[in-house]
Amino acid sequence: MAHCLGPVLLLLLLILGSASSAGGNRCVDAAEACSANALCQRLRTKYVAQCLGQVAHGSCPRSRCHRALRRFFSLGPQALTHALLFCPCTSPACSERRRQTFVPACAFSGPGHEPPSCLAALDACEKSLVCRCLLRVSTPSSQDGCLRDQGPHCLRAYAGLVGTAITPNYVDNASARVAPWCDCRASGNRHEECEAFRGLFTRNRCLDGAIQSFDSQWPSILQDQLDSHHNPGHSLQSILPVLALQSLL
Ligand SMILES: *[C@@H]1O[C@H](CO)[C@@H](O)[C@H](O)[C@H]1NC(C)=O
Repeated sequence: MAHCLGPVLLLLLLILGSASSAGGNRCVDAAEACSANALCQRLRTKYVAQCLGQVAHGSCPRSRCHRALRRFFSLGPQALTHALLFCPCTSPACSERRRQTFVPACAFSGPGHEPPSCLAALDACEKSLVCRCLLRVSTPSSQDGCLRDQGPHCLRAYAGLVGTAITPNYVDNASARVAPWCDCRASGNRHEECEAFRGLFTRNRCLDGAIQSFDSQWPSILQDQLDSHHNPGHSLQSILPVLALQSLL
């Protein structure tokens, strides 16, 4: 991208960078963009309410939380829901916010301190069209780990798993590594199968690459938001630079 747009891209990045609301925290920008969209905001408020609802009392209605999350990712505007889930980060504060996007204390990790065995998730994956899709898009033989143009499918498949028995998330705030909340310690004679399943997330070059390259699509996500958003008074900070640049591009 850089080689064809050159100075314009640099300018775009500089302007967008300086307009960013919280010192370049794109996860904050993504949250603001979602708030500016009625549908995104409504679905997000729903899942936050469900997933956060009773956390304070030491429990949470996980199935309702999961259902609200599935609705968010299936019915919400994809540019915005993906921006929230895959916002590119360069700081721990940003990565921590990204990790917390969908209230992982309820939606991701279970009630115990130790993650359960992945075998149940594996069996659920074999029954799930979306999960098997994640397996199909990844191939070790191709250069970027994806079948042709499969990167976006990989992200859709990943997002489609949030709120299912195989809900994945970022494992920490120091990387963009992802995994479901389970391990393969107690998987007995299915250990290899279990590791292969976990590897769908932890060693999936297509998924890793697609998450990394989400970075380069970031300006066009703001553009999509501009196109679909009919209230010019809102979030002028992030929209104005794009407007200004349209004449240049
Ligand atoms: C990053 O994660 C570590 C370990 O969970 C935590 O102690 C730290 O506060 C987090 N950093 C931020 C900026 O949230």
